Amino acid sequence: MIITASQKNRVLSGMRPTGRLHLGHYHGVLKNWVKLQHEYECFFFVADWHALTTDYDNTAAIGDSIWEMVIDWLAAGVNPGAASLFIQSRVPEHAELHLLLSMITPLGWLERVPTYKDQQEKLKEKDLDTYGFLGYPLLQSADILIYKAGQVPVGEDQVAHVELTREVARRFNHQYGREVDFVERAEAAIKKIGKGLRRDYQEQGDHEALEKAHALLETQQNITLGDRERLFGYLEGGGKIILPEPQALLTSTAKMPGLDGQKMSKSYGNTIGLREAPDVVEKKMRTMQTDPARVRRTDPGNPEICPVWGFHQIYSSDDTRQWVVEGCRSAGIGCIDCKQPVIDAVIAEQAPIHERAMEYIENPNLVRKIIAEGSERAREVARETLDEVRQVMGLADNY
Ligand code: TRP
Ligand code: SF4
Repeated sequence: MIITASQKNRVLSGMRPTGRLHLGHYHGVLKNWVKLQHEYECFFFVADWHALTTDYDNTAAIGDSIWEMVIDWLAAGVNPGAASLFIQSRVPEHAELHLLLSMITPLGWLERVPTYKDQQEKLKEKDLDTYGFLGYPLLQSADILIYKAGQVPVGEDQVAHVELTREVARRFNHQYGREVDFVERAEAAIKKIGKGLRRDYQEQGDHEALEKAHALLETQQNITLGDRERLFGYLEGGGKIILPEPQALLTSTAKMPGLDGQKMSKSYGNTIGLREAPDVVEKKMRTMQTDPARVRRTDPGNPEICPVWGFHQIYSSDDTRQWVVEGCRSAGIGCIDCKQPVIDAVIAEQAPIHERAMEYIENPNLVRKIIAEGSERAREVARETLDEVRQVMGLADNY
């Protein structure tokens, strides 16, 4: 697969505005974004159109959810100086690319995306028999491809969507990447690069040492970006790469358990909010289930079947964990004792989050400014890609 230089370093990810975020989002997604923002050029966006695909009949809360979520991101440490934050519907270019891609996307590809049937099964109370819902993953493809993003941090459930994106990109490049005079232009581009490199390039190309040839090309200053993409395409025996294929960047973070030991999720009602008040955190954790066999303080317990243990795995040091295992199995500690270090750790983790959130809650204009600037930065990139797409599809300035 071809990854071009600018694309390799670009990360894009989005979240639907489905209400206040919780610790599951924090440990599963946001902490990863905060890390990535220093390593890549990052674009993070609120997927408000995607929210409509499942909730078109209930849009009253969407406006508030968007701003609450952006504040959650900022409070978690996502830095608008390092990453561009924006709202999908503020960059209408996504919609045009979605439309254009829809022309070349076989219906069967969308019908076969696993989330399509799964969600229809799971969310029986919702009307998911719409055109918009079928197109959900293709809209996501447009989100990704319009930035030529190389890396897309997502959870397991979204990998199939990134896979579809790759197939759509391949089909697009195959269909539109071959300029009429592609071969002549590629040959001309080869002449432009130095003699030694030209020989290397052709030899590497012959031996399909693509990686090396790519590295070689990337070091060349004297060829244009267009020529470079042409040569990348030529090397693989295809056309010019207009929409490069992205890769899913799976996060390896530990799964955050909920208060009942299942995965933390709003639909299970087992969450601790990202910006939960400390007294509520304390109350939720004090009433949290423990090993049901530990009825009395003197009954020994088994951490393996206790939801509190899941919290210790995320929040506690080895020493504390050893104290828990020994104390629980020997009935040396009570469940209240056992919970205390986790309660303290969650509250300590949230203190700076509350503090940062306060700054934005008190200053909504600042949040709006961050989004306006992020949307503008995103639009610049999106417009550029769309210009190119229109061009190769024969839609630019022709009539
Ligand atoms: N479908 C994603 C989710 O539910 C949200 C999303 C929309 C997204 N567009 C995206 C994620 C593009 C990554 C890239 O989580
Ligand atoms: Fe759970 Fe801790 Fe009680 Fe053991 S002591 S049952 S691990 S809360």
